[in-house]
Amino acid sequence: MKYTQIGEFKNHVGEEVTIAGWCYNKRSSKKLFFLNIRDGSGFCQAVVFLPALGEEIKAVCEGIEQETSVEIKGKVKKDDRQIGGYELEVSDIKVIAESKDYPITPKEHGVAFLMEHRHLWLRSRRQLAIMRVRHNITKAIRDFFNDRGFINVDAPILTANAAEGTTNLFETDYFDQKAYLSQSGQLYMEAAAMAHGKVYCFGPTFRAEKSKTRRHLTEFWMVEPEVAFLDLDGDMELAEQFVSYVVQTVLERCETELKFLERDIEKLKAIKAPFPRISYDEAVEILQKKKEEYAASDDPEKQKLAEDILKAGVGDDLGAADETVIGSLYDRPVMIHRYPAAVKAFYMREDPNQPGRALAFDMIAPEGYGEIIGASEREADVDVLTKKIVDHGLNLDAFKWYLDIRRYGSVPHSGFGLGIERTVSWICGLTHVRETIPFPRMMDKIWP
Ligand code: 4AD
Ligand code: MG
Repeated sequence: MKYTQIGEFKNHVGEEVTIAGWCYNKRSSKKLFFLNIRDGSGFCQAVVFLPALGEEIKAVCEGIEQETSVEIKGKVKKDDRQIGGYELEVSDIKVIAESKDYPITPKEHGVAFLMEHRHLWLRSRRQLAIMRVRHNITKAIRDFFNDRGFINVDAPILTANAAEGTTNLFETDYFDQKAYLSQSGQLYMEAAAMAHGKVYCFGPTFRAEKSKTRRHLTEFWMVEPEVAFLDLDGDMELAEQFVSYVVQTVLERCETELKFLERDIEKLKAIKAPFPRISYDEAVEILQKKKEEYAASDDPEKQKLAEDILKAGVGDDLGAADETVIGSLYDRPVMIHRYPAAVKAFYMREDPNQPGRALAFDMIAPEGYGEIIGASEREADVDVLTKKIVDHGLNLDAFKWYLDIRRYGSVPHSGFGLGIERTVSWICGLTHVRETIPFPRMMDKIWP
């Protein structure tokens, strides 16, 4: 390559190199220009000493604005005080392309403005750090499964049937019939698990979420492992091993980024298996106590929280406030298992020892980040499953192929789905999922 990467400066100390990148900040004095350069691999300060370089270079430097792209020749010097630990002593500098009146200046901007300029916002330090953590999270996810003999099987995006309820389906015309954007690759992974034993898919999923919350996107990425001959306990063990691996690996690889994001690293260090497991009934008991306690408190915030606890009622699914309260009781994710089957998906197996309860669990992240994993053992009996599809008001024809999985050598099997954006949000310590994905899609956001 023609250019040396800033991230490789450690191998070029004392050498003359040529770099290419963008100027994100500039300072000058009578004799000097200090240009802060970003090239994707790192950051450095390029120092232009004018008395040695002359008027022409001075004019070039004066024309450089925020985000002007430049090619710079210079000598690499070690300097621990500088960002990145090195400095470039400039001998020549050329502008590749100008940048006039870049809209995102170093001053503070509102979120709405930044979201409008997401295509440029991605260049800022904070967004660079988040995207690098995301990259390392997805890499760790793939490594975890690939190293354990899982086969990566891709699920379709255009589907003929709903997997996760019909209320938030994106519908589209598919020639002379209707198709839906996939809400989950799970059903296809169940078919694939009967071929390969241990599989996972990793791709975008879509839900027409009409709620504007800090945890919901309409397009989000999900990794979904599925394993033949695995029961609910085995599934919980897999999930806790997986999440500990991802967090610990990202801690190792993204120290700089997490520091930049001012993440409390100690909290992440604690994320090690085993994770606490509580049943839905135990969770409800805890929540009822907390509801009373908070309602009696003088703190208006707690009183408000008390109103939201178990808002849907005992026997219904847990809500965001419930997850926040339960999640804050532990220093690592907690797995809540055996929810009432009536409020969970049709494909979940019911507990033979506790009728009416699904052999399912949700993993709730600490610090108020809420559900990051939805999981279950799947119903393996063709007759029970057929009845459930009908009871859920789903079209049996669309699930003919899915029922075949139970007709030909059905076996117990389990899996889970982890939402990438919520995981990035939690690991980075962000307040909203909109910053966790390069181009977020939400109810009121499809541009840029
Ligand atoms: O709990 P969910 O709906 O589970 C499934 O889709 C199963 N089929 C997974 C499986 O067993 N293979 O979704 C799984 C996870 C959630 O825990 C959450 O992290 C994420 O997907 N998620 C969302 N993330 C962002 N925006 C949304 N609208 C999300 N909906 C779910
Ligand atoms: Mg869920």
